[in-house]
Amino acid sequence: MNFKSIFKFTKTTEKLMKKVQEKPLPQHVAIIMDGNGRWAQKKGLPREIGHRYGSEALKEIVKMSVKLDLKYLTLFAFSTENWNRPQKEINALMDLLIEYLQEELEELDKNNIKINVLGDISKFPIHVQKEVNYAIEKTFDNDGLKLNIALNYGGRDDILRAVKNIVKDIELGVLSIGDINEKNFNKYLYTADMPDPDLLIRTSGEYRISNFLLYQMAYTELWFSRPNLLWPDFNQRDFLKAILDYQGRQRRFGGLK
Ligand code: FPP
Repeated sequence: MNFKSIFKFTKTTEKLMKKVQEKPLPQHVAIIMDGNGRWAQKKGLPREIGHRYGSEALKEIVKMSVKLDLKYLTLFAFSTENWNRPQKEINALMDLLIEYLQEELEELDKNNIKINVLGDISKFPIHVQKEVNYAIEKTFDNDGLKLNIALNYGGRDDILRAVKNIVKDIELGVLSIGDINEKNFNKYLYTADMPDPDLLIRTSGEYRISNFLLYQMAYTELWFSRPNLLWPDFNQRDFLKAILDYQGRQRRFGGLK
């Protein structure tokens, strides 16, 4: 299936897409896919079902990202703090990740998507690590959408890891303190050589960053949904609306207009 050609969109989606394509697009969109648990609980279902519907929503957003030719899409799928959830929910999230990669990898690859992980997956069960590493290897040479999946990721952990590796390089004599600047600090982060996110989307009406891409989001435009828009209900039109909203903003990066 070619994500770019097979879509049949409703008139409203087509219209929104055209509008979005008239203006410069964000290069990098990051998403906190929040509200899966509440979505399920509202329906009297177990939280895991919310995550399952959440992974369906993310498939649609990935397709739209390809369609729009976005360069980077970063999804917060499992945080360093998510280990504090019940084991049953953690297992369900791992299973969904495997299922997503097994079912979608071929299509993702065909659509020139490059999968990358932000975070330390060495803490994940070995069979999950294998599946993730296979997806990274298989899509390694693709140069279309860079799909970053944040797994066991924390912004503070990202910064601490960078600092530790910088100290190591100083000890090895390959870096000196005077050489440390914003540009090469960036190279020590999980997002090495990627542009910072232009736009952060968070569903479910929570107004927090929740330890996501702390260093990278210094000048990111933040878009928070209304409280009753939970991630499993977030659709391509909502995505387009968030981008349209972003396109209407004036970014000054601390300077003047
Ligand atoms: C936040 O909702 C969501 C997560 C912690 C996990 C997101 C995972 C997926 C969408 C599916 C699996 C991922 C992939 C890449 C296939 P929450 O559980 O905190 O919701 P709540 O705030 O309503 O409890």
